[in-house]
Amino acid sequence: MNVLIINGSPRINGNTSIALNEMTKIFDAEGISTKVVQIGNKDIRGCVACESCHQSGKCVFNDVVNELAPEFEAADGLVVATPVYYASANATLIACLDRLFYSTHFDKTMKVGASVAVARRGGCSAAFDELNKYFTICGMPVASSQYWNSVHGREKGEAAQDDEGLQTMRVLARNMSFLMKGIALAKEKYGLPEAEEWTPTHFIR
Ligand SMILES: Cc1cc2nc3c(=O)[nH]c(=O)nc-3n(C[C@H](O)[C@H](O)[C@H](O)COP(=O)(O)O)c2cc1C
Repeated sequence: MNVLIINGSPRINGNTSIALNEMTKIFDAEGISTKVVQIGNKDIRGCVACESCHQSGKCVFNDVVNELAPEFEAADGLVVATPVYYASANATLIACLDRLFYSTHFDKTMKVGASVAVARRGGCSAAFDELNKYFTICGMPVASSQYWNSVHGREKGEAAQDDEGLQTMRVLARNMSFLMKGIALAKEKYGLPEAEEWTPTHFIR
């Protein structure tokens, strides 16, 4: 059982890393392996709507997004974490997730998702809502915690002082582990829910 963790921060060992380390400790204890990929310091452009991924199954820009795709396909769960920039997830993470979710066509149903937002003070819940939307458009159940998944800190290292935030991360990782294990058992017993062919209407007909 394994979880892919995407860290949207450009700061190595920044506050988002502190939040994610708290989760990783719990995944280790639960016997779930993790792979953390920090993408916030990479040159990731946005989607150009060329639609070539419909044929090729991968993004036309051959960067870390195409490296993340097979890791995501193999994962039982996905954590996406962002530093809050102007009350939003940061632009690099959004560019990465737009392209990752749009260009990959494998079935994401019942892979468990969790999002984490880290900020000095404001915008965590807006960024949290924004990130959860990647999961809820493709059949991914969302793991939750005792509070909306946020941790506070400004300068590097300050998040270590946010006891409640770190507790929220530990509870989130435990709940996510439980969900992934439960879903694995349910898949064995019942299989995935019956799939329907998509009926696109685009609001025009
Ligand atoms: C461009 C930019 C915009 C930011 N906007 C916000 C914001 O809207 N709200 C907030 O509380 N903090 C904001 N911050 C502060 C960061 O969210 C905060 O420093 C966070 O701990 C960074 O996480 P990191 O160390 O993982 O990169 C902003 C920082 C930057 C660089």
